[in-house]
Amino acid sequence: MDKELMKKVAGQEAVKYIKDGMTVGLGTGSTVKYLLDALGERVAKEGLRIIGVPTSNRSAKRARDLGIDVKSIDDVDHIDLTIDGADQIDENFQGIKGGGVAHLREKIVAINSDRNIWIVDATKMAKNLGSFPLPLEVTPYGSTHLFKRLDDMGYHPTFRTNAKGGHVLTHADNYIIDLNLGYIEHPHELETILNNMTGIVEHGLFLDVVDMVIVGYEDHSETFDA
Ligand code: A5P
Repeated sequence: MDKELMKKVAGQEAVKYIKDGMTVGLGTGSTVKYLLDALGERVAKEGLRIIGVPTSNRSAKRARDLGIDVKSIDDVDHIDLTIDGADQIDENFQGIKGGGVAHLREKIVAINSDRNIWIVDATKMAKNLGSFPLPLEVTPYGSTHLFKRLDDMGYHPTFRTNAKGGHVLTHADNYIIDLNLGYIEHPHELETILNNMTGIVEHGLFLDVVDMVIVGYEDHSETFDA
């Protein structure tokens, strides 16, 4: 199974939904990388005029390097379409994001977009959410106490650390706690609980957000309306 090829297939299919003149939210991650490559090619070949709104410094740099115009979300008045990756998608098209630390910006861009498309390789599709750890962006201040509370609630938290053992930092210099839940039976109930916990800046549950999912296989893609 060639996962890179599956990601590429999804990215190349998604670029077809970008039209001249659009303002487009650009997600983050290794699947979006293929979308950006394909978009850069269209900009160069077709003279496509689009404005990209990147969800991470990584995507901003790559887009600029490929000749795609980028603006901050606060410098555009609306976003027509956002194309992003996801870490896991269940059979109701609910998702987990944040494996790449960018879910706060990704959620802000997503909820301010007229339309959202997710692009994933076929291994990301699951019956239920939860086997992928659920990322939380948390304030460093008080995070040890928040961690303990999450542990007491049975959510099996772990701080995300880098190779040197330090905390992984988000764009806003916050920490990431991953919840190792295994199986999320009621995503909306969990969302409400996490929304109400002080110290959690944003969680990686993306519920009722996506409009279309493009799943890449090695030799074809499948498109689902959510
Ligand atoms: C970034 O924080 C994430 O939400 C990514 O969109 C997600 O991790 C997908 O990334 P890959 O395409 O690299 O799997």
